[in-house]
Order: sequence, then structure tokens, then C-alpha cells
Amino acid sequence: MTGKSAFITLEGIEGAGKSTCMALVARLLEQAGRPPLQTREPGGTPLGEALRELLLGHRHEGMADDTELLLMFAARAEHLQNRILPALEAGRWVLCDRFTDATYAYQGGGRGIDLGRIEVLEQWVQRGFRPHLTLLLDLPAEVGLERAGRRSAPDRFEKETLDFFRRVRETYLDLARKQPERFRVIDAALSLEEVGTQVSRVIRDFLEAWS
Ligand code: TMP
Repeated sequence: MTGKSAFITLEGIEGAGKSTCMALVARLLEQAGRPPLQTREPGGTPLGEALRELLLGHRHEGMADDTELLLMFAARAEHLQNRILPALEAGRWVLCDRFTDATYAYQGGGRGIDLGRIEVLEQWVQRGFRPHLTLLLDLPAEVGLERAGRRSAPDRFEKETLDFFRRVRETYLDLARKQPERFRVIDAALSLEEVGTQVSRVIRDFLEAWS
């Protein structure tokens, strides 16, 4: 297959259906001859997965907001350097479950950290690098939490309040409004089938425009 590699990310609040969409996007890319490296944040490397445990587990409930922010970017620096960039440089497409938009949404919108401080870290760690395409699975926080609540025991983020997730959602939507060239907003409140149709259309259009 010819053409340059691309970095695609999936975002959304808990219960938006990211896992199902990851599988669908991966399948569509495979069918198009671009089997992606599938990875996630926080995580994606041995050190990143260890940081994920610290961030999502309940051992450090009183973690300071800045500690949380810096650990997210520490995991990201490791992930970018040792996994994402080498794969892209080798011509492989990369599909990532969450990336820096989640930091703006959760640590910025959710926790209330000034977005300008997050921008400084983004520039520090990524030096201008951003995803080529971001699918935002959008749905009301109530619906997402209701869906997520039906799954396993809540992690440190899933225990947050409805208001927290409303702010996360609003921040994601703001990011999408400000960067329409990169974001595609999917209505994730619809049925699985309808969500699948929207996602397939977005990926088909991207593949056409990219090659
Ligand atoms: P998930 O990807 O399995 O849904 O869980 C990851 C959790 O970590 C999720 O609640 C969002 C949160 N998170 C942040 O708060 N900031 C970040 O930068 C990232 C990547 C994730």
C-alpha cells in the first residue's frame, strides 16, 4: 500500500462506546490495507501501563491535580518516543484510544486546570505533533455514566460526579469546534448500528482524502 501513515485517535466520555468503535475502525483500516498499531493512553508501553495503574487505581485517592496532569504527560512522552513515532516513521498507521484531547477535557475541563498550562506541556512533549484525525464519540454525560455504570467496578475517574463529566463533554465539544479540520463528532447516543454507519463514513472519507 502506498501513501503516508496516519495517527488516528478516539475520544469521548465513559460509556460512549470507544472499545466497540476501536474494533470497527481497526477492521476498516485493515480492509483498506493499513492494519493499524492499536494502542491506548494512559498506557501503551510497560512504563505507561504502570503509570496507568497509578492513575486509575484507588491507592492514591488524594493525588494532586498537577501530579495527575504530569503523570499523564509522562506516560505520553514515553508512548510517543518509544511506540507511536517509531511506528509512524516505519509507515504503520496508529490507532490510539485517547490522547492529549483527553487531558484538555479531563484535567482541564474536569479538574479545572488552566488550559494554557496544558498547552505548555503539550508543546513541550509533542513539539507540535497532533493526531491527523480524531473521532469524538459524543453523548450526554447522564447517558454515558448510565452505560458505564453497568460495567465493572468504577476506576478513580469513573467515580467522579455527573457535573465533572458534563464539563469533560463540553470541553471536548469546544476542542472539536475549534479544530474542525481534525475532529469528527459522532453522535454516540444513537444505536450501535447508526454509530457504526457514522464511523464507517468518517473513515472512508478520511482514507479517500489521505491517499
Ligand atoms: P479509558 O481510556 O479506559 O476509558 O480510561 C482512561 C481514563 O483516564 C479515563 O477516565 C480518562 C482518563 N484520562 C485522563 O484523565 N487524561 C488523559 O490524558 C487520558 C489519556 C485519560
